Amino acid sequence: MQKVIKLITALAAISIILFACKTQVSITDISEKDVQKHVTQAKAGLASAHPAATAVGLEILKAGGNAVDAAIATQFALAVVYPVAGNIGGGGFMVIRNADGSTAALDFREMAPASADRDMYLDKNGDVIPRLSIDGHLASGVPGSVAGMRAAYEKYSKLKDWKKLIQPSIDLARDGVILTEREARNLNNAEEKFEQFNTRPTRFEKEGDWQAGERLIQPELAAVMTAIRDEGNAGFYEGWVADSIVAEMHRGGGIISHEDLKSYKAQWRTPISGEYKGNKIISMPPPSSGGIALIQLLNSIEDYDIGSYGVHSPEAIHLMVEAERRVYADRATHLGDSDYYEVPISGLLDESYNLSRMQNFDPEMASKSSDIAAGTPMPKESEQTTHFSIVDEYGNAVSVTTTINTGYGSKVVVGGAGFFLNNEMDDFSAKPGVPNFFGLVGNEANSIQAGKRMLSSMTPSIVVGSDGQLKMVVGTPGGSTIITSVFQTIVNVLDFGMNAYDATQTCRFHHQWLPDLVFYEPDCLGAEALSTLSAMGHKMEQRSGTIGKVETILVNKDGSIEIAADHRADDTAMGY
Ligand code: GLY
Repeated sequence: MQKVIKLITALAAISIILFACKTQVSITDISEKDVQKHVTQAKAGLASAHPAATAVGLEILKAGGNAVDAAIATQFALAVVYPVAGNIGGGGFMVIRNADGSTAALDFREMAPASADRDMYLDKNGDVIPRLSIDGHLASGVPGSVAGMRAAYEKYSKLKDWKKLIQPSIDLARDGVILTEREARNLNNAEEKFEQFNTRPTRFEKEGDWQAGERLIQPELAAVMTAIRDEGNAGFYEGWVADSIVAEMHRGGGIISHEDLKSYKAQWRTPISGEYKGNKIISMPPPSSGGIALIQLLNSIEDYDIGSYGVHSPEAIHLMVEAERRVYADRATHLGDSDYYEVPISGLLDESYNLSRMQNFDPEMASKSSDIAAGTPMPKESEQTTHFSIVDEYGNAVSVTTTINTGYGSKVVVGGAGFFLNNEMDDFSAKPGVPNFFGLVGNEANSIQAGKRMLSSMTPSIVVGSDGQLKMVVGTPGGSTIITSVFQTIVNVLDFGMNAYDATQTCRFHHQWLPDLVFYEPDCLGAEALSTLSAMGHKMEQRSGTIGKVETILVNKDGSIEIAADHRADDTAMGY
């Protein structure tokens, strides 16, 4: 009898395991129905732009990987399942806070090729040639993402199993990812550009329209991922993948060479840090403007009791917009790659400097951008992008923003290798005072120079509370609106007392000095707030689209985490 009971128990256990295996969705079967926006009371998890990429990161966390392991796996997965912005043909930034409180910032931003020069986008009259830095082969900087992931792996991986981190991306490229409705639409909308700018047919074009639910299969990309899995950096920056990139450049009139690829290095940098109302803000230094600008913005409003004004009240918006006007004026003049230009970092981060910039702030009236110029900080003494936020069960936090710049980057797919190249060269200032794609103007600090990294707005950030404990991991895509979206999300939590979900979903506004306009999302501000702000002198302009796609993780008082993925697209939060 005992034997029979044991047998029945064993059979029951086996069928439970088999059932569990069967019901666990394979990564390659994840689709739009798996999009979820909110996880509460988890011990670890992440939010990223795509449900399959989030699921890949989650599996790595569950397998005992740390937040950096999960970030690497998520980044490679996004390159497959989210081609509009996820990438191996672009670059980005990673901000890390380890459980022991130590911090790090990794710069894997693209770099101007060696034969780039400051006037490369100007015609013979010295005028900017429209879209030359945006579409096609000449728009690409030397990609940094693969080198960045490898540098992060070598320094911080817990799993120490590179192949395991990349295998899910190979599977997704080989077996295909199921398109969401938004992705099918994006691909259909971009098809003409794919035809116009490619020298070979790509996997992203097809007879008829893409439909939601269809699989996007990318065998060439699976082969590239396999090379990266087996050979690390050499699998991308040397060998047949590098040959394919250089051949693509020759066919399309681009300038990235074998030497550019081989010499690319990701750089470890000291994170930017500052204080806001007792909290410590950790973010990205140059070549991003994000960290400096974020801390300038927070410093600028610190003396005001904005929490009592009410979220989206005219008073709160006015204060934040006036801070933004001044900080973006500084950005246009003072920010660039600090390896090539002396950025006055300590001057810009000086609290009294930022408060002094607000001395002419009038609580009743808007100032004019034409009356606001960059300040003179003390000299140095000494829109498509994607973000993911991760916290592991050991208490490590990682905030990563990566980009190929605008949607599908330069639109150029490397022939035979199946991945998009960035159009990040447009983030340089092609000519002083001439706006780039995001309407941002720049100057000498951000002029084009061989080997220099173009200025970014990416702001992957981490907040530590006054108790010294991890409080928040946050970031977003959105070009020039990245800084102001992160700023608002932090203020939503720290001043308006919102949870991660509300802080992420609530609508957003943006000002960037030039043009002198306050942009706001559709249906964002009430008629009364709009008329009050207009009466104060603000030029209010409703955007046709949304602003930012924020991924926020908040640590609760009991140590559990709340994860929120932005409702503005297919972004997905998962945890356990
Ligand atoms: N490409 C957008 C940024 O880096 O700011």
